[in-house]
Amino acid sequence: MQTQSSLIERFAGVPVIPVLEFSSVDEALHVSEALIAGGLPVLEITLRTPVALEAIKAVAAAFPDAVVGAGTVLTPAQLQAVGEAGVKFAVSPGLTPALAVAAQGAGVALLPGVATASEAMAALEAGFQFLKFFPAEAAGGIPMLRSLYGPLAQLRFCPTGGIDAARAPSYLALPNVVCVGGSWVVPKDAVAKGDWERVRTLAREAAALRKPS
Ligand code: 3PG
Repeated sequence: MQTQSSLIERFAGVPVIPVLEFSSVDEALHVSEALIAGGLPVLEITLRTPVALEAIKAVAAAFPDAVVGAGTVLTPAQLQAVGEAGVKFAVSPGLTPALAVAAQGAGVALLPGVATASEAMAALEAGFQFLKFFPAEAAGGIPMLRSLYGPLAQLRFCPTGGIDAARAPSYLALPNVVCVGGSWVVPKDAVAKGDWERVRTLAREAAALRKPS
């Protein structure tokens, strides 16, 4: 398995990982350019649209210094496909036994999702210490992460789902949170209008959020 410690290092460098859903390659290039210029170079492009793989390749080629990963990776076949597309990481909303086995032989580091103590223990047993906490707000948010820190202090999380600029700082203040994920930096109406400046501004504000030292 591609080590998760390199993943933690990469993710710790940025407070926010934008979770992205693109409807065209052109849109992917504009949004990514704005996010990177705003200071968010680690991008999770989800496999929720038909152009996702093409967008991943185009963004990685256009912005070689960015760290381009794939999100919504649900199956071993998808993990293989995004690995072949050259992603630097893959994110899944959950973890299945098949995906855990596939991650062992994959050339790409997987950030699997968990929402409960039992799921976190199963992920730990499968070799994962860095986890996506999803859906963060719906699954208990900050009190849940604080509670998990007691018995499972060795785990680190990237909470995602329902987080926005107002909630992010409280998550980032938790000792077991490396960074947060979210789509708030790319509002759908801004994309519809081609308002890349707004995306850049939101990215700049998100990049200025820091883990308290
Ligand atoms: C994800 O896939 O991680 C979430 O859909 C992103 O959550 P958000 O849109 O609530 O930020």
